[in-house]
Amino acid sequence: MAAKKKTDDLMDKIVSLCKRRGYVFPSSEIYGGLGSCWDYGPLGAELKRNLKNFWWNAMTNRRDDVEGLDAAILMHPQVWHTSGHVAEFSDPMVDCKKCKARFRADKLEEARCPLKPSKSPLECDGELTEARQFNLMFKTFMGPVEDNSNVVFIRPETAQGIYVNFLNVKNSSRQKIPFGIAQIGKAFRNEITPGNFIFRTREFEQMEMQFFIHPSEDEKWFEHWREQRWNWYMELGINPEKLRWHEHGPDELAHYAKAAYDVEYEYPFGWQELEGIHNRTDFDLSRHMEATKKDLRYFDERFTEKFIPYIIETSAGCDRTLLTILVDGYDEVEVKGEKRVFLRISPKVAPIKAAIFPLVKKDGMPEYAQKVYAELKKSFKVFYDVAGAVGRRYARMDEAGCPYCITVDGQTLEDDTMTVRDRDTMEQTRMKTAEIVNFLKEKVG
Ligand code: GAP
Repeated sequence: MAAKKKTDDLMDKIVSLCKRRGYVFPSSEIYGGLGSCWDYGPLGAELKRNLKNFWWNAMTNRRDDVEGLDAAILMHPQVWHTSGHVAEFSDPMVDCKKCKARFRADKLEEARCPLKPSKSPLECDGELTEARQFNLMFKTFMGPVEDNSNVVFIRPETAQGIYVNFLNVKNSSRQKIPFGIAQIGKAFRNEITPGNFIFRTREFEQMEMQFFIHPSEDEKWFEHWREQRWNWYMELGINPEKLRWHEHGPDELAHYAKAAYDVEYEYPFGWQELEGIHNRTDFDLSRHMEATKKDLRYFDERFTEKFIPYIIETSAGCDRTLLTILVDGYDEVEVKGEKRVFLRISPKVAPIKAAIFPLVKKDGMPEYAQKVYAELKKSFKVFYDVAGAVGRRYARMDEAGCPYCITVDGQTLEDDTMTVRDRDTMEQTRMKTAEIVNFLKEKVG
């Protein structure tokens, strides 16, 4: 029970920090909010954008063998029949006859009874209905007539947009197998039990990459992508002790997968999936080929044969990674007898890269600091702050996750140097004003 309380405390603190500093707000809050929907505030929107760029750069720009794509959310409804989502993308659901709450039948032990939150629905007095399957796809109608022939699905994953564009991308980019297609985009799932803040929501963003290969090379590429993805989290600065691999056993493997590993993170509510890496075999392209009668095979000169490519998929949740960054970076430290919050986010994705302070509001310091601010904001997201004692300004920036605070003081006006204070070491280094742009470029680049 004590551990549970600690968990709740940390998540509560993160939710509260996100609201206070403008990272994440409840959606439609002035109307009372909408279950499990969240809005990203000024800092959250910056962090998310930086995170997506960080992924995009690693997955496409830095490689010659991965192309980008931005497919429509609404797709031909037949896509979702072919992919198996209409028939199989469902979770078993049960209702409590007493309190009418709904639970995922396969996650009852983790769930809490709304009337007795210390107990799971298996332990309280409520009687549960038989489990029934509940399809997670949202539907809507295309055009003015709301009948079955006009139903379209709101995509529950971005991957299908990649599969149906395999030929378009291959032909237009002139890539040869092995090559990949990467995409970032919204996905929607009518989750029965969303929760844990932005961990499981009904609207979320995915960062997915599908790598098309010859079947004989699947193990090699699977290992390659496992290594790449692990290294990406290391580059993002996530604590490796809080990350682990989880290999799917035969009873966990999705029907399309030959092998699967999840990257798991130890959240305050336990070890949970952050990203999935799958060997999807030729399942996807075979199904789409059969349904459309389009030839999705590939002629490989190396193997002198035509074959349906196998696919290695890396599928990460953007919101879940953002939560991971917040949880991993949250730190409380006592500074001069005062409890202070530090958000130790990697400078590479931090929403504000540096804050510029004049030490005092006189002697030409604000004017000098304004000039530096104007110069730096051409290249970085920076923040100017003159309000309050410099210690308070540091504290506000530490809590907002800003890695560097640059202060203009009396000496600056004499020798064009400023102090750069590092959030994590709290050390201050004096630097020439002319060197600051290069310093920041190196740290946040
Ligand atoms: N194309 C494969 C696929 O969609 P998945 O395991 O269902 O696989 C991949 O989802 C990733 O998307 C997960 O590892 C997670 O990070 C994220 N994700 C899935 N459902 C989510 C939800 N309801 N809320 C937030 N993120 C979610």
